[in-house]
Amino acid sequence: MRSLPLLLLLAAAAPAFALASALAENAAPALPGAPALAPEQAQKLAHLVEQDCGSCHGLTRKGGLGSPLTAEALSHIEPEGIAGIILDGVPGTAMPPWRPLMSEDEALWIAYYLLKDEGK
Ligand code: HEC
Repeated sequence: MRSLPLLLLLAAAAPAFALASALAENAAPALPGAPALAPEQAQKLAHLVEQDCGSCHGLTRKGGLGSPLTAEALSHIEPEGIAGIILDGVPGTAMPPWRPLMSEDEALWIAYYLLKDEGK
């Protein structure tokens, strides 16, 4: 019966795994429809939205140099359209293209994040 101690060990470890995944979910909000990103990557992007996007659009996204990025303000644009704006910027304005700094999936994730008003 060599497998019994192993089974007991697994049973004891299960709650720890459950806790770890619950914590991961906390760090990375569930965004239905958004590209699935690793929790650390999602956290990095949430931070970027607050720090970098926030420097122009306001820390709470209610607007500054750039227009508000609240879910309400963006509701007329499809997630893919928002991702396109993020990737290519808005020519003739201070909105820079972020394509050199992030993947298309990351831009789309940010679009869903903004549309859900997450992290404010
Ligand atoms: C250097 C300042 C600056 C930074 C940094 C910046 N933006 Fe912008 N953004 C602007 C300006 C200016 C506009 C165009 C005019 C406007 O819509 O206010 C704009 C427009 C937009 C729009 C279009 C809004 C609309 O209603 O048409 C979106 C979406 C957007 N930015 C998202 C972002 C995101 C996401 C980030 C961070 C990854 C970001 N911006 C970073 C200045 C900035």
